[in-house]
Order: sequence, then C-alpha cells, then structure tokens
Amino acid sequence: MKCSRSKSKIKDEQKNSHNLVVLDFIGSHVVRLFVTKYPDYQIFNLDALTYAGNLENLKDIEDASNYTFIKEDINDAAVLKELFLQHKFDSVIHLAAESHVDRSITDPLSFVKTNIIGTMNLLNAAKDLWKDNYENKLFYHISTDEVYGTLGETGFFNEETAYDPNSPYSASKAGSDHFVRAYGETYGLPYIITNCSNNYGPNQFPEKLIPLFIHNIVQNKALPVYGDGNYTRDWLYVEDHAIAIDLAFHKSEVKNTYNIGGFNEWKNLELVKLLCTVMDKKLNRENGSSQKLITFIKDRPGHDKRYAIDATRINKELGWKPSVTFEEGLEKTVDWYLSNEEWLRNVTSGKYQEYYEEQYR
Ligand code: DAU
Repeated sequence: MKCSRSKSKIKDEQKNSHNLVVLDFIGSHVVRLFVTKYPDYQIFNLDALTYAGNLENLKDIEDASNYTFIKEDINDAAVLKELFLQHKFDSVIHLAAESHVDRSITDPLSFVKTNIIGTMNLLNAAKDLWKDNYENKLFYHISTDEVYGTLGETGFFNEETAYDPNSPYSASKAGSDHFVRAYGETYGLPYIITNCSNNYGPNQFPEKLIPLFIHNIVQNKALPVYGDGNYTRDWLYVEDHAIAIDLAFHKSEVKNTYNIGGFNEWKNLELVKLLCTVMDKKLNRENGSSQKLITFIKDRPGHDKRYAIDATRINKELGWKPSVTFEEGLEKTVDWYLSNEEWLRNVTSGKYQEYYEEQYR
C-alpha cells in the first residue's frame, strides 16, 4: 500500500519495532537516547567507521539487549539490500554523511558518493522492502541548514526557503534531500527531513570549530580563524538535537520538513573568545592567555557569511525548544573533552596529523 499524499502521523511507539540508525557524531547521541528511552525497540546502528566514526562513543550502551552494531558502508548497495531483508527494518534514521565543509573542498567526489549515492542506496533498500505496505514505515533523513546557502545581516531560514547551496558539502546534502523528496513523490515512500544548524558537544571529531579549538588550546597551538572571523553560525547542543529528532520521528506528519536551530547566533570570533575564557578558567591559566593563540588565516573558499534558523514550526507543532543555554552547553562540552583526553589523543593520532598539515600549513 502506498502512503496517501495527505499528511498523516505515521509513527506511534511500537513494541519490537526494528529501527535502523545510520551514524555519525549526532547519530551516536540519537542511538544512546533511543536505546535507553525505548527498551522495546531494536536499534541497529550501521556505521562504516571511517575516520570520524568511533565505537568508543557508544561504549556505555554497547551491551544493551536492544542494541546491535553493524559495521557496513552505505555505499554498498548489495549489503544494504541484504540487511534490510534480514532484519526487516520498519524505519531508518539516516545520519550518515561526509559532513566537513573543508574536506568537501579538497575531495568533492567522496561527498557525492556517500551523501548522494549512499542515500540513494538506503532509499532503494527501504523502498524494495516496504513497497507493498508503507504503513508504519518511515525514512527519516537528517540534513543541514547549509542547503539554504547564506544570509546577509538579517533574516532567517525557514522551511520554505529555496535551496541555494554554496559548497560541495551543502550541494551534496541538497541533492540527497531532493532524492528523498523525489522518492516520496514518485514511489510514495513515507519520509521526513529535518535541517539543523551547527551542532556541538561531546564526541565531535576535532576538525569542526569547537572541538578543534579546544584541542589546540590544550596543546597551546594556534587557533586558525578563517578570514576576519565575522562569520555567523547558530549553535545547538547535540543532545537537544537528539531530543528534536526523537520528537520528529514519533510525532511528525509524513512528507514534512522541520528546521531545527538553537536560537543562538554567534560570530566566530566572539565564540572563540568565549571559548578561550572558559578554557583559561578550566586549565587554571591566566585570563587572556588562550586568546593570544588566535591567528587569522586565509579564508575558506565560498565561505557562507551567516546561517540562522527560524525554528518556529517545530516549536509550535511539537513543542520543542533547546533545553541547554550556550554557556551551559559549552561548559559541558569543554568538561567532556578535558576529562576524555585519551579519546582525543586516539582520534588525533595518525591520519589526523596529515589532514591537519594539509589543511592548515
Ligand atoms: O550548519 C550546519 C553545518 O555546520 C553542518 O551541516 C556541517 O556538517 C558542520 O560542519 C557545520 O558547518 P560549518 O562549516 O559551519 O562548521 P565548522 O565547524 O567547520 O565551521 C564553523 C565556522 O568556523 C565557519 O564559519 C568556519 C569557521 N572555522 C572553522 C574551522 C574548522 C574557522 O574559522 N577555522 C577553522 O579552523
């Protein structure tokens, strides 16, 4: 049975439902939330464990009886097909992506492969398994606000904003969003998409601004700020994003989109200065010493000036809003990195050094 075009709520809490979550940093927080909050769900976590994937991130729940880890790659269509047949997944929460803008500038093709072809492979596997009965099935695609391009000094992205991506990364995410919608229209596949702003929090790979700068401050290394630092991002604590995903998964209508944001805009330079102050305190360093590490470097090509999310729809319809202030979230994040030095050491050895040299030399 195809799902009708009229919007209807499709996911109730279901006993023994088999949910496939395909991972990244945000995904690890979603998996933890679902495994602990829904003991009746079987959660299958599929991850290729590429450079940013790390089983350590879910050590605390790895023995849970409703949790299964599968090391596979969404680029392998045949394996996905097999897995869908074997486990009869009812729903997919798709968070697997190449997600770092700078890497997409040096290697755009790998972003097309994982973000577009990988998403197509998942869509095909889901469609093939579900096509005779779409009832209570859901393909949930997690996306980004970067698909909307850039804003000037004012205004916000909402769910009706036209797509206008500027980086190979955002173009690949826009492409994957389009395919998800196209599968909804063409084949009736029940889907939802959410587009979120910049996430931060524990377990984020230290290539993104906040964990990279925490790592560098600890090591007394330069803090490489692109351009003049006057670029604006909207920051959301990752656990609040996971809560929004839980709500959208259970309560959204089919063929729906929600924008998720932190109501929390910061210019990069201001954010870095705040981070420096927090780090000085935590490391018992003289106030102002970390700020001396700030180094302005050549700008990122195609650097989007400003992102800002209007999250009114998810707030009004699902009652979601961030629970953690930026100051609280940043402090929790810093505390986590400082008490997980071994995690940080492990992920920054080997290949990371090569990436760092190449990116910032
Ligand atoms: O908006 C959501 C997006 O946020 C996600 O879809 C992406 O996966 C995620 O990477 C993030 O994209 P950004 O490019 O905004 O994040 P990033 O942490 O790389 O950079 C944040 C800002 O800080 C951006 O204006 C570039 C700047 N920056 C970043 C790095 C890594 C620097 O000035 N220096 C740096 O070394």
